[in-house]
Amino acid sequence: MLSVNNVSKVYEQAAGGTVQVLENISLSGSLGEFVVIRGANGSGKSTLLRLISGLESPSTGSVMVHGRKPGQAELGFLFQDYVGSMLPWMSLRENATLPLRLKKRSRVERHAALGEVLQSTGITNIPFDRYPHQSSGGQQQKTGFLRAILSSKDFLILDEPFSSLDRAGEDAIRNWLQRLRRAQKALVILVVHDLDDAILLADRIYCLDGSPTTVRDVVPVPLPWPRDPSVRLSAEFLAIRQRILSASIQETI
Ligand SMILES: Nc1ncnc2c1ncn2[C@@H]1O[C@H](COP(=O)(O)OP(=O)(O)OP(=O)(O)O)[C@@H](O)[C@H]1O
Ligand SMILES: [Mg+2]
Repeated sequence: MLSVNNVSKVYEQAAGGTVQVLENISLSGSLGEFVVIRGANGSGKSTLLRLISGLESPSTGSVMVHGRKPGQAELGFLFQDYVGSMLPWMSLRENATLPLRLKKRSRVERHAALGEVLQSTGITNIPFDRYPHQSSGGQQQKTGFLRAILSSKDFLILDEPFSSLDRAGEDAIRNWLQRLRRAQKALVILVVHDLDDAILLADRIYCLDGSPTTVRDVVPVPLPWPRDPSVRLSAEFLAIRQRILSASIQETI
């Protein structure tokens, strides 16, 4: 369903010259899989997600989604800069349901769909009548997540989805993702910094490293689903953890 083939990305720099961010990156994902991308700050994770979504194009190599160029496939994208992705003139309710408005769904249908995802995720504490500038970072991140899943439930790209969430918000989204994974009807590409979270949510982890960034290791996570946090104490989990840490020269235990 998704194939990233030998992709490199070179950016022009404001001061002149170029900088190569990604080199020869290959990655694949199919329906039902959760793929996690890890790497240091500035290693090109968000860049790679933009290439997968079709928001940017690779300098060399190709990205295919369903055998076609990205950008045509329906997908939900929670941006790392979720605040910058909010439309400031719309309430949080209108921001969350924007994908349905673009599909010309009626107001009643939009509200019903929002009610459904709130119920299925268990996400609470969003002041939907407020505008983004009147809302907290966590409230806007939850709104961005709801917008992503109202966009598509079968192809989701989530860039650090837990970064501003409180414990309850994090648990709600983590549990919803586990249920989605068990249903095996979605491809989810995630950037998650916390190593334990990454292992708990991944079928496969791409470890990026180096300059320019290459894929240092691809680590399969064959733990059964659903994954209770207690699995973190298992020998299998610890071995995966160790392998990921040794794939990065920047991380220490
Ligand atoms: N439009 C752009 N023009 C020039 N350089 C860019 C552009 N976008 C990103 N970069 C550079 O590419 C590199 C990778 O950025 P990216 O945001 O993809 O990293 P990241 O792995 O997501 O980092 P973080 O963990 O901090 O989110 C950085 O050095 C960044 O400065
Ligand atoms: Mg990033």
